[in-house]
Amino acid sequence: ESESTVSITVVGASGDLAKKKIFPALFALYYEGCLPKHFTICGYARSKMTDAELRTMVSKTLTCRIDQRENCGEKMDQFLERCFYHSGQYDSQDHFAQLDKKLKEHEAGRIPNRLFYLSIPPNIFIDAVRCASLSASSGNGWTRVIVEKPFGRDSESSAALTKALKQYLEEDQIFRIDHYLGKELVENLSVLRFSNLIFEPLWSRQYIRNVQLIFSEDFGTEGRGGYFDNYGIIRDIMQNHLLQILALFAMETPVSLDAEDIRNEKVKVLRSMRPLQLENVVTGQYKSHVRGGITYPAYTDDKTVPKDSLTPTFAAAALFIDNARWDGVPFLMKAGKALHNKRAEIRVQFRHVPGNLYNRNIGTDLDRATNELVIRVQPDEAIFLKINNKVPGLGMRLDRSNLNLHYAARYSTEIPDAYERLLLDAIEGERRLFIRSDELDAAWALFTPLLKEIEEKKIIPEYYPYGSRGPVGAHYLAARYKVRWGDVG
Ligand code: BG6
Repeated sequence: ESESTVSITVVGASGDLAKKKIFPALFALYYEGCLPKHFTICGYARSKMTDAELRTMVSKTLTCRIDQRENCGEKMDQFLERCFYHSGQYDSQDHFAQLDKKLKEHEAGRIPNRLFYLSIPPNIFIDAVRCASLSASSGNGWTRVIVEKPFGRDSESSAALTKALKQYLEEDQIFRIDHYLGKELVENLSVLRFSNLIFEPLWSRQYIRNVQLIFSEDFGTEGRGGYFDNYGIIRDIMQNHLLQILALFAMETPVSLDAEDIRNEKVKVLRSMRPLQLENVVTGQYKSHVRGGITYPAYTDDKTVPKDSLTPTFAAAALFIDNARWDGVPFLMKAGKALHNKRAEIRVQFRHVPGNLYNRNIGTDLDRATNELVIRVQPDEAIFLKINNKVPGLGMRLDRSNLNLHYAARYSTEIPDAYERLLLDAIEGERRLFIRSDELDAAWALFTPLLKEIEEKKIIPEYYPYGSRGPVGAHYLAARYKVRWGDVG
């Protein structure tokens, strides 16, 4: 029986994502011995480049995760030897046919498997899929295509994209990436819930007061304004990354850990969500701010952004899941650029202790004294549980303390980048962390009417200074549901 080989073609090889994430992730996998024995990596892009030039470009992006790791330089050289370049247009069948020829030379007699990573802008997407499908594996190997968001900008365009993709590919060949699903702590969410007795029984409206999904970045859209202005923060972060976390958080117990079983549960919970009302949403846009003698730009200072753009760079929303488990529990999302810190976390605030004997000792702020579970996805990965504890001493005073699992203190292993896990899964055909088309439809069905309303009514975002905590409207929104954001104060 002949051996198999994998050809990984990075379409859009000179782009940002390829340089920052894809090549480094492939190298990390190679370093860890996770790539198959026989593989080649081909960079495909429009610019003219030789194999040597590609290798130089790629080598600049590679790091050994822990400095001075054994054999790192040597491994890098071996890895680079397996990389080559092919220049071509994204919509040229001829150019892809030449690529096909080249791949065949590398595959020489082995079962040819082909993975295409489409790291290119949406407007050339379908053409590239059409051409790439022409260079699908012609032997008995598999062909898989990894695609990145944006998957359209609303239900209609997303459905059109799916339809076009399916002309050339089967659903099981399409690997839609949401890189948040590849993050260590997002993957751990199910482990936490389903392998510990103490959480799952509390995981419902009976004990949980509210759930908060928070994403913040301390930089603006610098350099990406052209893309961003057409999408905005709701499409960029909420409709995908935060909603995916919500689905994993709130889904029912899957039948098994198989991809289809997990995705069935995610779709169910997404389809149980109450349509989003405009009144449950606050949008914001950052304005310029001077701090410490430095002027931080407004969103609209970006030359690629229209001066009168109303595109939100911040949004907060209250969402509800109308099923038996979550009836009435607010799920609050908050996502923003150019805020005071960079962080992604899940906060679960539990209910008050009924008839609490110790209410008197807690102080006046009973809301603050409820248990809170915090799952910090990044940076500084951690899980901590806030509990009430007696302050040591002769008196009886309680304060809030943390039971703390801080990854850096507990584990010496480096946390792999999300793209490493996702690329490895795609190579191995594991679909659990990729978005199925019905999940995507459900996610768009939830957000499309809201997005249309915001755009049709030309809702003016609340302006907030670059580097601030964002619009105060987010606090009023939370207060309406008797919620206080856990990340504030
Ligand atoms: C991307 C968004 O999907 O995620 C970016 O398009 C955002 O706007 C990025 O900056 C955040 O990812 P991470 O992994 O850096 O948190």
